[in-house]
Amino acid sequence: MDRIAIVGGRRLNGQIPIGGAKNAALPLMVASLLSEAPLTLSNIPDLADIRTLKTILAQHGVSVTESGGALSLHAARIASTLAPYDLVRKMRASFLVIGPLLARCGEAVVSLPGGCAIGTRPVDLHLMGLEKLGAKIALEDGYVHAKAAGGLKGADIAFPTVSVGATENLLMAASLAKGTTRLVNAALEPEVSDLAECLVKMGAKISGIGTSTLTVEGVSTLGAANHSVVADRIEAGTYLMAAAMVGREVVLQGAEPAHLGAAIAAIRAAGAEVDTAKSQIRVRRGDQRLRAIDVTTEPFPGFPTDLQAQFMALMTLAEGTSHIHERIFENRFMHVPELGRMGAKIAVEGDTAIVAGVDSLHGAPVMATDLRASVSLVIAGLAAQGQTIINRVYHLDRGFERLEEKLSLCGADIRRLKE
Ligand code: UD1
Repeated sequence: MDRIAIVGGRRLNGQIPIGGAKNAALPLMVASLLSEAPLTLSNIPDLADIRTLKTILAQHGVSVTESGGALSLHAARIASTLAPYDLVRKMRASFLVIGPLLARCGEAVVSLPGGCAIGTRPVDLHLMGLEKLGAKIALEDGYVHAKAAGGLKGADIAFPTVSVGATENLLMAASLAKGTTRLVNAALEPEVSDLAECLVKMGAKISGIGTSTLTVEGVSTLGAANHSVVADRIEAGTYLMAAAMVGREVVLQGAEPAHLGAAIAAIRAAGAEVDTAKSQIRVRRGDQRLRAIDVTTEPFPGFPTDLQAQFMALMTLAEGTSHIHERIFENRFMHVPELGRMGAKIAVEGDTAIVAGVDSLHGAPVMATDLRASVSLVIAGLAAQGQTIINRVYHLDRGFERLEEKLSLCGADIRRLKE
């Protein structure tokens, strides 16, 4: 298994290009199942999760071709409505195939998902919504068996909790249902709007995009479309934290500042300078120590749970004590003991991590535990004295494109140890 070696202490200077969002690209690729005509997606990041989903979609009968940097997904015929455990367990987002398969074929058998080990992460909201659309659902041997013999029918669905995945799944399913669906308390995340906009290009009738109530007038078929994936706000937010940690002046090219309001506000409050322009964020960090700031993770536009670990790494060296409340996922503090190995002082009480800022971190061998936790160790390693070795790098490869290259071009001493 590959490892990453970082020698800390170098200041970062330069530009970092931000790629297309993994969390937008995945549902967009799944949307290809809804139409007999091709869906062409550009700005797709080159990541392990994208490759996994290509394999999953191919076994459903989608022909996947790449040309000129764009991915064309053509589901002329659905070859199989079964999504097997071996594929779905690798990535939770693959559960999204259930809505489109059910809407187009009237049936789907999908394994219960796997993905990052950050809490129980149920799919009850996805299933509740599909049942409201008229599907009959049965759980057998770890598989969801869903049937809608006469097709799905529009309904009012109110989510008790905001769920990105359930909103996306039901938005896709409702696009091909008969009649009107209203999704109330829908997720506001930019990736949801990106999907909705692409569905509209394919011929779906969706109003309320960007609000918490999405209204979908079902249509009988969807057509071809071209769509460019929105910028990855989590990749941009991660480099924002890295720049606030060890940067002098770092420019994030292609980042969308409007999607990072809460993270930018937190970094500014901590004492880094952030300027924004169209598709660009500039971070400047002087020699003064950052201040400790409290944050609480919330659905968009609140502070994203996917940046919680990275922000915690930043706070390990801040002046004072920071309280970081994790309100989206339980058990999302697996980076805490690893940061502790590098000299961080963090105590966990329930859903709160209390980070007492220290003067310095030291390099150590550490282990990546999930996608975002692993990149928090990279940020800590960039600031630590001496060498940090990060094991189980495959977590990073699921979500961060050319991470070592992007950071080393800004002056970081970071390299991959191949095995
Ligand atoms: C998506 C993102 C993930 C991010 C998360 C929250 C993708 C591929 N992944 O995950 O990176 O961390 O949003 O921003 O886009 N819940 C239920 N029942 C359900 C579904 C969710 O109780 O049926 C709960 C979850 O346990 C969690 C909360 O709702 O506590 C939010 O989860 P959700 O928004 O669904 O996350 P994902 O879509 O899985």
